[in-house]
Amino acid sequence: MGNLLRQYWMPVLFSWELESDGPPRRMRLLGEDLIAFRDTSNQVGILGANCAHRGASLFFGRNEDCGLRCVYHGWKYDVSGQCVDMPNEPPESTFKSRVRALSYPCQERGGLIWTYMGPRSTLPPLPDLEFNMLPEDHVSIRKNLQDKAVLESMGPIVDRTHEHLGTTDLMIIQVRRRLIDAARALRDHGVAPPGVDDPDVYRVRTATAIVPKGQNWRDAAVDYLKAFTDLPVLSAEAQLTAGRVAPTLAGGS
Ligand code: FES
Repeated sequence: MGNLLRQYWMPVLFSWELESDGPPRRMRLLGEDLIAFRDTSNQVGILGANCAHRGASLFFGRNEDCGLRCVYHGWKYDVSGQCVDMPNEPPESTFKSRVRALSYPCQERGGLIWTYMGPRSTLPPLPDLEFNMLPEDHVSIRKNLQDKAVLESMGPIVDRTHEHLGTTDLMIIQVRRRLIDAARALRDHGVAPPGVDDPDVYRVRTATAIVPKGQNWRDAAVDYLKAFTDLPVLSAEAQLTAGRVAPTLAGGS
């Protein structure tokens, strides 16, 4: 599932949480300890938490002159992770050009910093989430913390025999099913998960319809429910090859 999530851009910080040449911030994403900083030219970088030299924490680094300088021996990295200065090497040395820290690309939009931790060298597009495409003073964004222990205490969520969801939980069941299908298709056949290459599917769409008297509203609104776009589902072939023989809503795991 971690490999599946790495296919997507992830929002990680508010833009205001990083100041140009200000203190770095540490965070853990998908099990990795990372450091984020904003350099002198306002670019954001996300690096592995430990220096490529002797592993000192870059959280204590000095953010100055377009780079983050490790406080142990002074190696300095730019936002792409490239080492740009090595004070403990002679001036004629080119060793620094061969050293890179672990880094992940970042983009900023609508007051959020996004990062991509996936394998592609050509980055997928940012999702076209409506709120994230408006001017910053048109939206209000906040963080909510979720206690991970509460989720874990729910037990193995893919094992339906331990779970007692009612018919109103069909959406939860369907979303889990699709996630599992997408993870299997990616793992076994390299199929890109839904939405990664199609930013339009995240857009908000509205529709209005007057349903003729006596007609079932669901039948009358079927075209509007499609929201004028192809739904981001896996192809039938991908679902079959991922081990899902037939679509089910409330079936077993
Ligand atoms: S550990 Fe960072 S420069 Fe030596």
